[in-house]
Amino acid sequence: MIEYENLGKVNKKFRDELLQTFENVLDSGWFILGKNVSDFENNFAQYIGTKSCVGVGSGLDALTLSVKTLNLKKDSEIIVPSNTYIATILAIIHCNLKPVLVEPDINTYNIDPLKIEEKINNKTKAILVVHLYGKSCEMTPIQNIADKYNLKIVEDCAQSHGAKYKNKATGSFGDMAAFSFYPTKNLGAFGDAGCITTNNDNYTQVIKQLRNYGSDIKYQNELAGFNSRMDEIQAALLKVKLKHLDEINSHKRKLAEIYLENLKDDFIKPIVDKDYYDIYHIFCIRHPKRNNLKEYLLKNEIKTEIHYPIPPYKQNATKGLWKEEIFPISDEIHNTVLSLPCSYGHTEDEIYKVIEVMNKF
Ligand SMILES: Cc1ncc(COP(=O)(O)O)c(C=O)c1O
Repeated sequence: MIEYENLGKVNKKFRDELLQTFENVLDSGWFILGKNVSDFENNFAQYIGTKSCVGVGSGLDALTLSVKTLNLKKDSEIIVPSNTYIATILAIIHCNLKPVLVEPDINTYNIDPLKIEEKINNKTKAILVVHLYGKSCEMTPIQNIADKYNLKIVEDCAQSHGAKYKNKATGSFGDMAAFSFYPTKNLGAFGDAGCITTNNDNYTQVIKQLRNYGSDIKYQNELAGFNSRMDEIQAALLKVKLKHLDEINSHKRKLAEIYLENLKDDFIKPIVDKDYYDIYHIFCIRHPKRNNLKEYLLKNEIKTEIHYPIPPYKQNATKGLWKEEIFPISDEIHNTVLSLPCSYGHTEDEIYKVIEVMNKF
């Protein structure tokens, strides 16, 4: 069986270093907001190219605290792609704001910059871009729109650790950027974790308070905050894996290249463009008979996934939010997309095997 993902295999290469690091944290007796978190924050900010980074409890928390930090009036509107993972939408809802959906570009699967302006009105305050599957959004026109209408930009980088657009890392474009270190991500922790990168010192200070009950001086609470601190243990282990992130990304890019070169053209493959450094968090193709293809691959001992089978606007959790609106491009993507095995734990031989089977479909 070729698995979709096996995190045991992914982390095996770093096992000795991870075990030693775990032991060091265990013996230190310090588990919340210590040197490991601040070291990881410094290293990650440097990796992304921002002034600072604040470690938090998860990607959803990173998004929610970023949106909260914008300090917008109730019912303000935030533009967000219609085909994103539900977490992006939930972050906006949890801040009592309105997510306004914009369709993606059918070729990149990211928010279509040409469709943003028609959704802007005087309640619009921010654009929350999502660099889906490990490809950056087209940031130049998005930044031009944000400048023209005085909108903030928040980036959802849950799937784009190390992805670049015009040689600049995702996570360094917006006013703030939210990362998830969910175990399957290119930089994956050993439980939940996330962070926010920013160049804005005020935002850094507010987020540091928000993650810690609204406090940065013990027992003194400036804001009605949360408990969403990155654990020392996760920070220490992530610090180890961050050193290998480029290697993880390169491996996935190599596997993606093999797919791109050898899969037959019946499958709609991800597009490649010189302005984009894609890190293939997810390598997905599209096919009109996606469900049959998935079944056929499983019969041939190849596991795949669908990211995502149900769009956010068809979830019970969001019922009534977008009433009459339709999202045909998102529908098309959700109905045809299939994610293929493409992880740090896969070998090139396994990918050639997947291709051989797929090309007979
Ligand atoms: C695009 C996107 N945003 C946000 C999240 C939420 O991250 P987490 O699971 O760490 O809360 C995810 C994670 O799965 C995601 O894929």
